[in-house]
Amino acid sequence: MTKTSNITIIGAGLMGHGIAHVLAAAGHPVKVFDRSAEALESLPGRLAKLCDLLRVDPAINDRITAHGNLAEAATGADFVIEAAAENLEIKQFIVAELEAVVEPSSIIASNTSALPITKIAARASNPERIVGTHFWNPPHLVKLVEVVQAEKTSLKTIKWTLALLFGAGHRAVHVRKDIPGFIGNRLQHALKREAIALVANGICDAETVDDVVKHGFGKRLAVLGPLEQSDLVGLPLTKAIHETLMPDLDRTDTVHPYLEQRIADGHIGMASGEGFRTWTEDEANGLRERLNNFLVAQANTNATHKKED
Ligand SMILES: NC(=O)c1ccc[n+]([C@@H]2O[C@H](COP(=O)([O-])OP(=O)(O)OC[C@H]3O[C@@H](n4cnc5c(N)ncnc54)[C@H](O)[C@@H]3O)[C@@H](O)[C@H]2O)c1
Repeated sequence: MTKTSNITIIGAGLMGHGIAHVLAAAGHPVKVFDRSAEALESLPGRLAKLCDLLRVDPAINDRITAHGNLAEAATGADFVIEAAAENLEIKQFIVAELEAVVEPSSIIASNTSALPITKIAARASNPERIVGTHFWNPPHLVKLVEVVQAEKTSLKTIKWTLALLFGAGHRAVHVRKDIPGFIGNRLQHALKREAIALVANGICDAETVDDVVKHGFGKRLAVLGPLEQSDLVGLPLTKAIHETLMPDLDRTDTVHPYLEQRIADGHIGMASGEGFRTWTEDEANGLRERLNNFLVAQANTNATHKKED
């Protein structure tokens, strides 16, 4: 996609401001609407910090404008992404408001983490142009976007959305059916189900689970997906392991009682100093900093490789 498109983002929060940066950095004019004056006031400062972090020209932000009126922000938009609160009623309401002001050809995308896109589009008069665009947090550092095809999303909508996101340097993938958790969260939570069961069954403690992932197969996950890895070692080996392992893996089909109990005991995570593991404030901040530094270093390495290509 060489031409620029008029982009509107609904919601200037954590995801909305990152997505605004990504699309403005790709050259598109971006209008951001939020119903919170506070979110709009803090937007320029947060966008400036992203440019500092990524060491990119802050002039990118000249392409981003903040709006307290939805019609003003969305009129003339080719592509709208809602990144408002994770609430079905709110998202359906936003779609209805948008349909009243955008052109019939405009695409309306939702950044929902888990709500079915089909439900978000349920009351829409033109559901063919409604699509899921599940960015990952933080969107300016994690390049994946799952583009979710709901029951009535047209292929034209999907193709246009994939092209826009690829053009912005993101790795956009097509999720052909609107299933809970799309692809990424299904994989992530399948891993968490087994991780929780290992701890609940006394096989190891939570730190050991994290060590096994971080120092073991997690090391290669960024360059070797699970199915690539199966092809690498050969499918017969994968089959042999599955014959032993599949009958034994956890298959709890509700929230695991161990997770329920931790929460009931007030162990909700870093915010309370204890979740599956215990955390001092320094340890929690240290981990956040290490994660951020790692993602920034990776983003800068990728940017350098791109320039050299
Ligand atoms: N935070 C994550 O890790 C993450 C990852 C992927 C997807 N998401 C999804 O992205 C969406 C936004 O998440 P977030 O973390 O940026 O939330 P956030 O709370 O940081 O930001 C949401 C923003 O939307 C605004 N808002 C709420 N209702 C609105 C409305 N009716 N009209 C206009 N603005 C409205 C709020 O004022 C706020 O500024 C959610 O659907 C969330 O599930 C979040």
